Amino acid sequence: MANSLPVLKIGKHTPRYPLIQGGMGVRISGPGLAGAVARAGGIGTIASVGLAVASDIYDGRNYFEVNQIVLNQDVKKAKKRSGGGIIAVNAMVALTDYDLHIKASCEGCADIIISGAGLPLRLPELTKGFPDVALVPIVSSTKAASLIVRRWEKLYHRLPDAFVVETPLYAGGHLGVTKMEQVMDQSLSLETVIPELVRYIDEEVGEDIPVIGAGGIWDRDDMERVFALGARGVQMGTRFATTVEGDADMRFKQALIDAKEEDVVIIKSPVGIPGRALRSPFIKKFLEGTVESKPCFANCLSYCSYRTDKQAFCIAQALVDAFRGNWEEGLFFCGSNVAKITRMETVYEIFDDLFGEGQDRQVSARN
Ligand SMILES: Cc1cc2nc3c(=O)[nH]c(=O)nc-3n(C[C@H](O)[C@H](O)[C@H](O)COP(=O)(O)O)c2cc1C
Repeated sequence: MANSLPVLKIGKHTPRYPLIQGGMGVRISGPGLAGAVARAGGIGTIASVGLAVASDIYDGRNYFEVNQIVLNQDVKKAKKRSGGGIIAVNAMVALTDYDLHIKASCEGCADIIISGAGLPLRLPELTKGFPDVALVPIVSSTKAASLIVRRWEKLYHRLPDAFVVETPLYAGGHLGVTKMEQVMDQSLSLETVIPELVRYIDEEVGEDIPVIGAGGIWDRDDMERVFALGARGVQMGTRFATTVEGDADMRFKQALIDAKEEDVVIIKSPVGIPGRALRSPFIKKFLEGTVESKPCFANCLSYCSYRTDKQAFCIAQALVDAFRGNWEEGLFFCGSNVAKITRMETVYEIFDDLFGEGQDRQVSARN
């Protein structure tokens, strides 16, 4: 077991600890959670998706405009709460107003943009004029990473500042695969992909691009295992979703706290990709084929099977219902670690558990 921590340098930004709190939408990770994580010495991430719906200025017609306003404000709020810490925005490529989310993040002075749910092939173009904003694609395979590298080098003469490798085996939310059977594909484990991607970066790219592991990481032992594979950081979602500082309704947090292993299911989401979630009454009906969806309110995704074919349900409505704690009608995303959550922790408690004196490992820099 290693006894020191890697240094995670992403562009111009180096957090005290090599930990990113993953972006969790809709509004599970807003300025409250992101600001607290950044203050504690990690990288706090705001999820950009669907922010309008939780806002007072949303009137049912101005969804795209309000998304931008709220995102810009939330980044500023998180920066203020962070006391000089590092704030990232997670923006999903699959969003209709993706370009506007990137613009609002840059103008709000986000330090890092983390982007997945599709390949962020145009990200350098969308952030030109903001050279200090670090760009981090989320991938599940080396193939996806190499596609991004080749495209960015060719068109923009720029490389990613880091990669998040998220394994579909354990992660929460949408998973970076298209078919249900790929969710349990062992060739997409962190054990396989991280060393492969690190080797590809060393041997074929020849630049220093850190790799960050995500999916199923809970404690210091999990982190150390991922570092031993060659990662220089970890991204954790589920454990932070139920923190005191988390932005969701208390009933959202309680649902995750109460969940057991057998309550976790994989669904084919309206986005067309698998996602990991709790078997809430809404999802139970969906799996049985009897769900009744609320109407599509904003045309928020570039592909949505509900909008085009009335298949599945309006995911934005279901995620907002979850954020508000509506157990009957909500889609509660979670990672496979959800059964380990037994109480609400503070962000500080998690950092203390991972990096505090209780850990007999030395918290010093290693490269
Ligand atoms: C409630 C929830 C919502 C999520 N929403 C997003 C999202 O909007 N965009 C995204 O890229 N990832 C999303 N994720 C994935 C997390 O950012 C993170 O990478 C993942 O959960 C890591 O796995 P873990 O939960 O096992 O720690 C979400 C995860 C959860 C649990």
